[in-house]
Amino acid sequence: MNDMTATPTAPVLPDAQTVTSVTHWTDRLFSFRVTRPASLRFRSGEFVMIGLMGDPHPETGKQKPLLRAYSIASPSWDEELEFYSIKVQDGPLTSKLQHIRPGDQIILRPKPVGTLVHDALLPGRRIWFFATGTGFAPFASLLRDPQTFEDYEEVIITHTCRDVAELEYGRQLIESIRTDEMLVELLGEENLAKLKYYPTTTRETSPKMGRITDLLKSGEAQRDLGVSAITPETDRAMICGSMGLNTDLKEILGGFGLEEGANSDPKHFVVEKAFVG
Ligand code: A2P
Repeated sequence: MNDMTATPTAPVLPDAQTVTSVTHWTDRLFSFRVTRPASLRFRSGEFVMIGLMGDPHPETGKQKPLLRAYSIASPSWDEELEFYSIKVQDGPLTSKLQHIRPGDQIILRPKPVGTLVHDALLPGRRIWFFATGTGFAPFASLLRDPQTFEDYEEVIITHTCRDVAELEYGRQLIESIRTDEMLVELLGEENLAKLKYYPTTTRETSPKMGRITDLLKSGEAQRDLGVSAITPETDRAMICGSMGLNTDLKEILGGFGLEEGANSDPKHFVVEKAFVG
C-alpha cells in the first residue's frame, strides 16, 4: 500500500438517500426512514432495491453495491420513505444495515415494482392482507392509502409473528391509523370502521395464538372476526411472508376457489415474498 491509498476518501454512493430516523423494535427487527428522491413515484405496496456499498475487494479494493428488495412501508403520499427490516447477524446486508444512524446514507434505486398493488386484483367486497414477520411492510403502506378503504367494504389485516414484541411495529401502525388526527382525516372515520386487525403469535402466549394458516383452515379466524365464508365472488387477498406461508396460503385460498392474479392479469389474490437475509 502506498501513501495515496492510506487515507481513502469515503466512496460516493450512487442513488444515495439520507437516513432520517431509525427505530429498533427487537433484537431481530428495526425500521427506518430515509429521504425520498424528488422524482420517485410508486404505487402503495411496491418494493425498491436498497442497500449499502459492500466491503472492498481484498485485491482490487473495488466496492460494489450490496442491494436487496425492500417493500416500501410508507404510503405513496408520504414525503419520506419508510422500511421495515429483519436483522440477520451473518446476513450480507442486514448485518451492516442494522447499524445505520440518522445522517448516514444508503443506496436506493428509484425503480419501484411489485405485485401487491390494487391494480392486480379484480373488484371485490372484502380485502384480506396476510402478513408474517416483516411481511407487514407493504401493508403498512397500503393501509395508509385511501384507495384501500374506497375500494372495499371490509379491510382485514392479519399478522402472525413468533412473539408479542414482534407484533409491535404493526400494532402501533394500526393504532396510529385509528387515532392520528391527520390519518383519520385522510382515510375517513367511517372508512376506518371497515378495518379489522388480527394479530397472532406462535411461540409466546398472547390473546390469539396460532399460525394464520391453521386458524383459517379451521374457520377459527373467520369466527373470531365475525365474517362470512371466503368466496371468489366477495374476497380479495394479498399475501406477504415466508416462502412457507406463501405456499400454504395459496393452497388454502385456492381451496376457497380464489385464483392468483398479476398486474397484467388481475384475479382474486396476489403474493410476494417478504425480504429475508
Ligand atoms: P412458527 O413459529 O410456527 O414457525 P419467522 O420469524 O420465522 O419469519 O416467522 C414469522 C411467523 O410466521 C412465525 O410466527 C411463524 O410460525 C410463522 N410461519 C412460518 N411458516 C409458516 C407457514 N408455512 N404458515 C403460516 N405461518 C408460518
